Amino acid sequence: MTHTIQAFRAALLHSIADPAEVGPTASYEYFEDGLLVIENGLIKAIGHAADLLPSLADNTPITTYPDALITPGFVDTHIHYPQTGMIASYGEQLLDWLNNYTFVEEQKFSDKNHADTVAKLFLTELLRNGTTTALVFGTVHPESIDAFFEVANDKHLRMIAGKVMMDRNAPDALLDTPQSSYQDSKALIQRWHGKNRLHYAVTPRFAPTSSEEQLTLAGQLLHEFPDLYLHTHLSENKQEIEWVKALFPEREGYLDVYDHYGLLGKRSVFAHGVHLCESECQRLADTQSSLAFCPTSNLFLGSGLFDLSKMEQYKVNVGLGTDVGAGTSFSMLQTLNEAYKVMQLQQKKLSPFKSLYLATLGGAKALNLDAYIGTLHPGTEADFVVLDYHATPLMQYRMAQATTLEERLFVLMTLGDDRAVKATYILGEVSHQR
Ligand code: GUN
Ligand code: ZN
Repeated sequence: MTHTIQAFRAALLHSIADPAEVGPTASYEYFEDGLLVIENGLIKAIGHAADLLPSLADNTPITTYPDALITPGFVDTHIHYPQTGMIASYGEQLLDWLNNYTFVEEQKFSDKNHADTVAKLFLTELLRNGTTTALVFGTVHPESIDAFFEVANDKHLRMIAGKVMMDRNAPDALLDTPQSSYQDSKALIQRWHGKNRLHYAVTPRFAPTSSEEQLTLAGQLLHEFPDLYLHTHLSENKQEIEWVKALFPEREGYLDVYDHYGLLGKRSVFAHGVHLCESECQRLADTQSSLAFCPTSNLFLGSGLFDLSKMEQYKVNVGLGTDVGAGTSFSMLQTLNEAYKVMQLQQKKLSPFKSLYLATLGGAKALNLDAYIGTLHPGTEADFVVLDYHATPLMQYRMAQATTLEERLFVLMTLGDDRAVKATYILGEVSHQR
C-alpha cells in the first residue's frame, strides 16, 4: 500500500466502553463537526475539526459527509455464509429447519465454483450493510473455506471463519469423520490462519452433530495452534437442549459438554445461549467465553428471548450476530431494531448507546479483536461506515424532529438498513458506496 494521509470531516461517534459498566454518557465519544485522519490504513487522529485541521498538510485530501454519522464498521459475531441462498425459508423451528432447508442447501458447497459465487455475493452483502468483520460458519467442505478466505483476502478484510466439523446426525453427504475433520481443519489453519487479516475458527456445528471423538480432536486443535477461535451453537431451542441431554447423559448440561472437551475460553464464541441456567452463565464469565445474541434468528425460529441483562449481571461478553440464514437480515441496524423488541418483550430497555456498543466495540471484544477494530481510536484499523441520516424520505423527515444524538441514533437503528449505509471503508479505502 502506498503512503497516504487523508481525512474525513463528519459527525463522528464511537463506543469506548460498555454502558453497563460506565453508564451511557461515559460509554462513547462524539464529535459533532469531527475530523478523522487516516494514515496508511490506520486511524492517525480523531477530534474536533477545528482542532485538527490546522495540523494537516495543505495538500491532504479531505472528504466531507454532511447529514451523516461516521462510526466504526459493524462486527457480526455469528453468521453462516452458505445459508445466503436459503434466508427466509418458511415455517419451521430449529431442528426441522436444519433438516428441511439447511442441510439441503449446504450440500451445494461441495462444488468450489458454487462456493466462490456465494462467497462473493455474501461479502458484498456484508459490506453493503456496513459489516466489516464477521465470525463466519462455512460448511463441512474445506473448499467452502478456501472460497471464503480467497474473497475476504482480496478485499483486505479482517474475517474469522472455519470449516464445519460434523460426523453424525446429518445427511451422509454432509458428514466428515473425526480424523478427516481434524486433518482438513489443520490444513486450512496452516493455509489461512494469521494470513494478512484472516483468522481460523475451529467450528463443530453443535453438540448433537459431533461425536465425543470429534469434540476431543476439536479441543486438540485449540491446543496445537495459538490464537485459534472456537465457534459453535449453544442452548438455542428447548428440543435441541433435551436432545443434547439424551446424547451426553454423563454431562451436567449443554455447556458442560463443550467444557468437558476444553472448548471454553476467551476466543470461544457460542451463538444464542437463550436458555442458560445460572451456573452456565457463571462458567461462561469465568472462562471469558462470549455469546452471540442473534435476535432476528431467535424470533424467526421461535427459539426464545435472549436475556441480555442477565449476561450483564454475570459479566458475560456478548456480541451481536445476524445468524443469516436463520436470521432474516444482513443489516446490523435491523438486527438492533429486533434486539430492542426482544428486550421490550422482557420489560427491559436497550439504549441506543448499548446498541452501538453491541454492534461495534462489544463485538470486537467478544472476538478479542478490540486492539485492532471496533473503535475509532488512533492506532486501530480504519474500517468504518458512513451512515446517512437522510437515507430515505421518511428518515429525513423523522430526523428533522430528533433533537439529541441519542434520538437520532435510535431512529437510525430502528428505521435504518442497507440504504442507510452511504459508504463502507476498509483500511481507509472505500469498498462500498451508494
Ligand atoms: N444449530 C446448529 N446448526 C445451526 C444453524 O445452522 N443455524 C442455527 N440458527 N442454529 C444451528
Ligand atoms: Zn447459527
